[in-house]
Amino acid sequence: MAPAAQPSLPSPVADLRIDRARLIDRIEALGQVGAIDGGGVCRLALTDDDRAGRDLVVGWMQDLAMDVVIDAVGNVIATWGGDRSLAPVMCGSHIDTVRTGGKYDGNYGVLAGLEVVETLASTGYSPRRPIAVAFFTDEEGARYHPDMLGSLVYAGGMSAEAALDLRGIDGTRLGDELVRIGYAGPVPCPGVVPHRYFEVHIEQGPILEAEGVTIGAVTSVQGIHWEEITIVGRSSHAGTTPMAMRRDAALAAAMLTVRVRDLVSEIGGAQVGTVGAIDVHPNLVNVVAARATLTVDLRNTDRDELARAVERLGVACDEIADSESVEITRKVTADFDPVEFDAAMIDLVESTAAGLGHTVRRMPSGAGHDAQMLARVSPAAMIFVPSVDGLSHNVAEFTEPSDLEAGANVLLHVMLHEASTSKTISSQMTPHPADGAA
Ligand code: GLV
Ligand code: MN
Ligand code: MN
Repeated sequence: MAPAAQPSLPSPVADLRIDRARLIDRIEALGQVGAIDGGGVCRLALTDDDRAGRDLVVGWMQDLAMDVVIDAVGNVIATWGGDRSLAPVMCGSHIDTVRTGGKYDGNYGVLAGLEVVETLASTGYSPRRPIAVAFFTDEEGARYHPDMLGSLVYAGGMSAEAALDLRGIDGTRLGDELVRIGYAGPVPCPGVVPHRYFEVHIEQGPILEAEGVTIGAVTSVQGIHWEEITIVGRSSHAGTTPMAMRRDAALAAAMLTVRVRDLVSEIGGAQVGTVGAIDVHPNLVNVVAARATLTVDLRNTDRDELARAVERLGVACDEIADSESVEITRKVTADFDPVEFDAAMIDLVESTAAGLGHTVRRMPSGAGHDAQMLARVSPAAMIFVPSVDGLSHNVAEFTEPSDLEAGANVLLHVMLHEASTSKTISSQMTPHPADGAA
């Protein structure tokens, strides 16, 4: 489809551009917090390093004279400018990372939001609506399942109480860790419903780079299903136990891992599946394993196909339990339907990118994002920029500075468009359906 005409803004506002060097400096500075070998970052949610990252970003928000609130699950929302009786145009993302993450995933979206504010503040231009920049707790879900947790609660998909009671992979209680790092905020969650929500993010996949396109106008996010599967067998001596008499939990975990790969191949199309974590007990060379736990991550853009994959996983568990004489129990830790973004906002991203002189294509997102949760309560859309070699959740994650700049400028102008020209609506919270929570 041909891009619609670029939205018109009065000059010199139309000529505003973010400061690339300042954006990169902040990305690099935040990337030093929890830095690991290879240029990556480890800032699992609510760890000491997450606290240090949060403190740094909150300090930058305060330097910009933004009003910073911290809510009951540790989401941070900073608001600037505009008429405070109007709902804000919000952008955001996350600053937690996976254990071997890069410095762009999530962080870029938050720091690009600060660029929007600083660019506007430096010109003395105040849009009609407030601009809000948010970072949401535990987007990665790497420490506490499900992923997109803070934004899920923000959008009313899980109660704050249930989120605070979650146990992490290390046995910690989320609410206790939030208090420990000083981010159990006084403001209720769900909070203010934004007028519009935008999120700029690295693509985390290979498509934009392969096609030589700078901007992705994201149309949708695929559905996600996570399970934690526990296999109980029996410990016995590796030298004396005949093969036919074993109840080997490690073997069953390996078989299930292969079955996940097989069922994904059988379903084909957009189906993907991953066994990303396996824990074996007692994990010794000469002991048949008594217990194994593994995680399964299944995703598909098609809800019915995803349901088919989940059903086949169940069949695989039953068959392996039978053939290996082990007990298998399954716990669903995330289950989110595919999400379509707002058609008018996708058009706006596309036309704004083209108007700024960038190549642009529409595309779905393979990764999960806070925007898919915000889309439950507010029109939402996303802007993607290329990931070199398609890599993410990898210390080598990298995006060219010129692409980071391009995405941030698209963010600036779509936010300005919505903050300057849209009709007034109430900023009061509306009730949310409590659906889709894990
Ligand atoms: C978040 O990064 C996810 O898609 O798992
Ligand atoms: Mn992310
Ligand atoms: Mn991620």
